[in-house]
Amino acid sequence: MASPILKQARDMARATRRILRLSPMCAVIREVRRRGVAVEQCDALECFAFTGAMHTLDYARVVRNLEVWEINPAHESLLRKNLPGAEVRITDTYDELARCTRRFDMIVVDNSPAHGPHVEHFDLFPGVFRLMQDSCVMVLDVIPSMNASVRRQYPEMFRDQVLRTRAEFYGVADPRELSEDVLVAPYAACARRQGYELRWHFVRKRNPILTYLVLGVVRGRV
Ligand SMILES: C[S@@+](CC[C@H](N)C(=O)[O-])C[C@H]1O[C@@H](n2cnc3c(N)ncnc32)[C@H](O)[C@@H]1O
Repeated sequence: MASPILKQARDMARATRRILRLSPMCAVIREVRRRGVAVEQCDALECFAFTGAMHTLDYARVVRNLEVWEINPAHESLLRKNLPGAEVRITDTYDELARCTRRFDMIVVDNSPAHGPHVEHFDLFPGVFRLMQDSCVMVLDVIPSMNASVRRQYPEMFRDQVLRTRAEFYGVADPRELSEDVLVAPYAACARRQGYELRWHFVRKRNPILTYLVLGVVRGRV
């Protein structure tokens, strides 16, 4: 658990990067735009919202509509304060996924790597495709390398069961180091099975542990 001073310093660093448009999420939004997506016309969903301070604030003002889901009611007031225009739902994302009838142009998945019974975001697939418009951008946190930072911050990621789940999801024998091609393959295959095609993808390093994997999918064949 970070000390209050460290947390405050991190929040200040994030706010500064946001103001200067230097955060990894700001870079993601720029690249998505460069690929022809009208971000300002996107209805976006942040599937794991916390207070929005980690990266949702970086794009909240840019999109047309924003909906955010968060399980912990303790974050609701800050979430509403930080994201005044957003539709806030205090809900379990996995349950909401099955219930939700709305469709989104951009879906951002930013959960902790191991949380409760879930490993990374794997359990959101294939259900998350139900939430997509015919054309959709998906932003995922992926872990290309199970490095020393992962071991320090998320030691549970090295449990046998978690490693097996990761190996199975990515279709590899050893899931500790994953190339970009290996990382993108299961999402492309899942998209195809759900009637979508992966039109493009790119990665953007976020921190020593997480990398954004950004997928542009369209319904039907391209
Ligand atoms: C890494 S934080 C998200 C940070 C956020 N995207 C931001 O921009 O500030 C992950 C959040 O997911 C929430 N969470 C964990 N399990 C959840 C679930 N099943 N449904 C909804 N939220 C969940 C946690 O309470 C935590 O606030």
